[in-house]
Parts: sequence; C-alpha cells; structure tokens
Amino acid sequence: MSISIPQLPKGTRDFYPEAERIQNYIFDTWRKVAESFAYEEYEGPMFEHLELYTGKSGEEIVSQLYNFKDKGDREIALRPEMTPTLARLVIQKARELKKPFKWFSMPRLFRYEKAQKGRLREFFQLNMDIIGTESIYAEADLMAAIATMLRKFGLKDGEFAIGVSSRKLLATYLEEIGAPNPSLVYPVLDRRLKIGPEAFAKALADAGLTEEQVKKLDDFMSCKSLEEVRAAVKSENAAAALKEIEDLFETLAAAGYGDCVNLDLSIVRGLAYYTGIVFEVFDKGKSMRAIAGGGRYDSLTEKLGGERIPGVGFGMGDVVLADLLAEHKLLPSPKQSVDFYIASFTNDMKKVFETAQKFREGGNTVSHPLAAMKMGKQLDQANYQGAKIVVYVDGSKAGEGEFEFKDMRTGEMFVGNVSAIVERL
Ligand code: HAM
Repeated sequence: MSISIPQLPKGTRDFYPEAERIQNYIFDTWRKVAESFAYEEYEGPMFEHLELYTGKSGEEIVSQLYNFKDKGDREIALRPEMTPTLARLVIQKARELKKPFKWFSMPRLFRYEKAQKGRLREFFQLNMDIIGTESIYAEADLMAAIATMLRKFGLKDGEFAIGVSSRKLLATYLEEIGAPNPSLVYPVLDRRLKIGPEAFAKALADAGLTEEQVKKLDDFMSCKSLEEVRAAVKSENAAAALKEIEDLFETLAAAGYGDCVNLDLSIVRGLAYYTGIVFEVFDKGKSMRAIAGGGRYDSLTEKLGGERIPGVGFGMGDVVLADLLAEHKLLPSPKQSVDFYIASFTNDMKKVFETAQKFREGGNTVSHPLAAMKMGKQLDQANYQGAKIVVYVDGSKAGEGEFEFKDMRTGEMFVGNVSAIVERL
C-alpha cells in the first residue's frame, strides 16, 4: 500500500522563509503607512456566526463562504471579509468609541472561490476604515493613504489608478430614468464589463429594465468626465453627489495626488452594503484584477441591528499587490540577512553563546554555529545567512574583551571591542 504525502489545500499558500520575508515586507509597509496617517490597529476572530454575512454582504461573497456547524450546532463561517466584523465591534461599543476614528487591520481571509491568478481561497487584506463621519474628506484621507502606500512600494503615479464612482449618483440616475429596485440592478451593473453587452442587456431586461433604460445606463456608465455626467443628470440629489466627487478630486489634487484618481462610473462593486462613493484601484492597463476596493457604507451597523453609524473604508489584498510589485521588480530580495555571525576556531561553544548574547543585547540579529565545525564551514554558513560581520571569539585579546572581526561586505579584518564592532555595522 502506498501512502500519499500530504497536499497543500487548493487556493492556499505555504510561506517558506523566503516567501514570508516578502510577505513581512508587505505587512511592514502597510502598517507603517497606515500608522503614518494615524490609523490604529485592531483585530477580531477568524470565524464569526454565519448570520453576520448572509444577506448583508451581497450574493457573491455569501456564495463563497467557508461555513460549517460546530460541535455546539452553531452555524459558523470563516471570515471572507473584515467589514462585518468591524461593524460588530463598532456596534458593541457604539457609545464609548470617540467618533470619528480611523482603524486598520491586516486579517487573513477565506473565500471558497475558484482559485486562479489573483484569487485564492486564503489571503491577507489590509483594511483601513473611518467610522463616524459622513464627510467626503474621509474618502480623501483613505485615497491619499492608498496612493502614499503604492508610492512607498515603489510604484509611480500612472502605474496605478484609483477609479472613483458613486452609488448615490447611480441611484439618482436610476431613479431619473425610472429604473426599478437598484439593489437588484447593482449586481448586474457590477458585472457589466465582465459579461459583455449582450449578457448585460439580458440581465437588466430580466431585472425589469426596458431597452431604452439599458441604453441610457450603458451610456451613463461610460461617462469619462464630470462635465459629461453633469450634462446627463438633472436632479438636485445627483448634483449633490457630483459636488462631492468634485470636492474629493480637488482636495486630492491639492495634496499632490491628482494624477492618482479618476472618475470611473463603470465601478459599482459587488458588496451590498455600499451607499455612497465606491472605488477600486487598478494597475495601469487594468491587466490584473483590482489591487484594492472599497466605499462608503452608512447603514451597515443599522442593518446589523445597531444604531446608524456611517463608515467608509477599503480592502487591499496581498495577492494582486505582490503580483504587480513582482512585475515591476519592486519586491525585496528574499535572501536572509543577519548582522553578526559569531565564529570560533576552537569550537568553544560556551564563549560563542556568551558573546552572541552580548551582541543581541543592542537589538542586533546574531547567528552562530550549533555544532563543532571547521572555520571554512562556519564562514560558508555566515555567507549563506547574509552575515554582515563575522566575529572570532578566540583571538589573543579575547580575554580583554577585544575580538578580531571581518567585515564580510569588504573582506577587511579589524580588532575591537563589542561597541567598536557594532559601530562598524
Ligand atoms: P473586496 O472587493 O471583496 O472588498 O476585496 C478587496 C480586495 O481584496 C480586492 O480588490 C482584492 O485585492 C482582494 N481580494 C478579494 N478577494 C480575494 C481573493 N479571493 N484572493 C485574493 N485577493 C482577494 C472587501 O472585502 C471589502 N470588505 C473592503 C472594504 C473595507 N470596504 C469597506 N471597508
């Protein structure tokens, strides 16, 4: 009988140290930029009661849930997104939390979808959200953070774009043309570019729209400028929604992000809870899936049974982002690097451990052999681990606290005490 070796589950990844180093680079950059915009980090459980998602998030995500009954017969789902968890956290402390506040999180998420390029069943997603304000400057803050982040990763303006649309604007337009129930229409509009004109027209006809309404909608969603939109809409509500977008663009332009955003009314978003601005971030040629997506959800807490507290935010996945950075050769070298390697000619392991500890005290990374080995082997290991400096513990002045050491970057030899060696780093 042959025993098959265990297999990696479909749509998941292993992170060997090389991959984990790159992953940590992404996490570090996410965290640094989010903190530089004064967002505070939070977390929640990786699974929730199934009912937190059903009906509130939108068809697609619900069909992609990983769910099961636990031993207490409770319906549980692994979290497919963070927003419902965030809403739950907000509802629980609605009174105590001083609003508005800005929070971020970097959850591991699970979606049972067809694994393909840019789409996995387990992935990480930076979430940044602002809770407790309806101001459009919250959107501006989030978009400035996205642009700053992508620049920090090394992407140039023009290599990515934040496409902005507004469900408020779409809703008023749907009303103007007399289209029925927007909540039935949004999922179709969201798929417009994916399914092609015929299937789009058919799906809208099924939702109760006339041919003329479909044509109008298609034209509207193809508008490329605020002027075009202004010419197409009449109502006061539409004018207010447009004014909001205008304010947003002008504010971002003033802060130096003008080239990072554009109007894109083809963006609708699949999630059901969005009520205002919606946006997606793409690479230049839109050759990949969205790097990030988000929007305003002013009634989610209410839908979940709490009081109405407005919110806006986005999720940026690690998968498409890493693909894009790899394409632009912007990912760091996956090689290990340590500050010091402590070597010994006489394999004096006590001295090696004692010295390593001294170097670690200053916050340095320190490696050393774990068994007796020839100096050649020790240097091989130091090289492999990317050691910057090799310290020899058994030189003639070791008793006085002075060590011979080699700067591996230049090949030069020196003698010095711990602080002189650390200085050399
Ligand atoms: P979403 O559009 O479902 O939004 O996901 C946002 C981003 O997460 C996508 O643009 C993509 O980069 C990444 N992503 C989504 N699904 C997968 C997958 N299966 N594999 C890899 N990456 C994926 C949300 O999740 C909203 N909750 C975001 C949000 C936060 N809205 C407001 N606040």
